[in-house]
Amino acid sequence: MKAVVIDRFGDSSVLNLTEIPKPNLSSDGVLVKVCYTSVNPIELLQRSGKFKFPVGNSFPRILGSDFSGVVSEVGDKVKGFRPGDKVLGMRSTVEGGAYAEYVSAKPGQLSLIPNNFSFAEAAGLPLVTLTTWQAILGQANFKTGQKVLVNGASGGVGVYAVQLIKALGGHVTATCSYRNEHLVKSLGADVVLDYTKVSIVDLGKKFDVFYDVFGNYSLGKVEHLLTDKGTYCSTIPSVKNFLTHGLSFFSRKKGKVVVVRPNAQQLGRIVTMCEEGQIKPIIDSTFDLSEMPQAHERIRTKRAKGKVVIKVADI
Ligand SMILES: NC(=O)c1ccc[n+]([C@@H]2O[C@H](COP(=O)([O-])OP(=O)(O)OC[C@H]3O[C@@H](n4cnc5c(N)ncnc54)[C@H](OP(=O)(O)O)[C@@H]3O)[C@@H](O)[C@H]2O)c1
Repeated sequence: MKAVVIDRFGDSSVLNLTEIPKPNLSSDGVLVKVCYTSVNPIELLQRSGKFKFPVGNSFPRILGSDFSGVVSEVGDKVKGFRPGDKVLGMRSTVEGGAYAEYVSAKPGQLSLIPNNFSFAEAAGLPLVTLTTWQAILGQANFKTGQKVLVNGASGGVGVYAVQLIKALGGHVTATCSYRNEHLVKSLGADVVLDYTKVSIVDLGKKFDVFYDVFGNYSLGKVEHLLTDKGTYCSTIPSVKNFLTHGLSFFSRKKGKVVVVRPNAQQLGRIVTMCEEGQIKPIIDSTFDLSEMPQAHERIRTKRAKGKVVIKVADI
């Protein structure tokens, strides 16, 4: 099968399209013929060697978590999926493996695709929507009616964060640059702030959750913007964030870090919200598998509006 493999750390030129054997099917696994995958910023860090934990220097390696496609084979012990099912899924960021024509997955990483989404649209969903689900409902213990500030609302995570939090009954204040104000407003944000003109730390408003998707704030910088029992949640799993947030355990205002994991039950709930029209797909750009270096360069600009997806094969 075709796959994009890295055999060393480096810039986007180390992403090498090559032929390798198909993954083996385990008795509790599902083999998916991949139609689309997507690129997430963590994969740039993994490619360049800036995020080695916990896989280290093991090569060759296939990056990629998100995929959509059709079930090709099913292990003897698997229930709930059949060959021919149209699925989307997420392998953990540690496992990778999705920049390839076939991916082996566990049922706990899969869901049927939303019936109103194309394969391209479906491939952009899993990692970013699960991130917000686990950040907002998990880490921040969000309740309907609460006020959430989403910082970085126009990127891959942000465009779905705004829609998900609105669908869950939140009041959303979203930050982005003037380039994306119209887009973010169209996603349902109640208030949109252009961070190039407005000083977020001087807002003088209170939020139950400060969801720092872009990751350029800290609990210390925005604590005064949190309600009495408010939570600051970052998507940046740095040692500094874990340490400072650990120290907030005994405080009323908490600091949290989200580290996304595959979860089929949560993914199923998100798929239902898509089918109900509460979440619409936002695609920044589409590349072919052979153009993976260009797709990584697009993410590197930090200017993507929604998801960068990769066409792997026609189904
Ligand atoms: N911990 C986890 O499990 C987890 C999971 C997913 C993502 N992440 C991390 O979350 C971060 C965001 O991911 P992503 O996929 O959303 O990235 P992305 O798609 O590359 O984000 C691009 C967006 O960032 C916005 N942006 C650029 N500078 C900004 C600034 N100073 N303030 C606010 N927004 C700004 C841009 O909007 P403008 O052009 O309008 O500035 C653009 O739309 C990454 O660091 C990623 O690694 C972590």
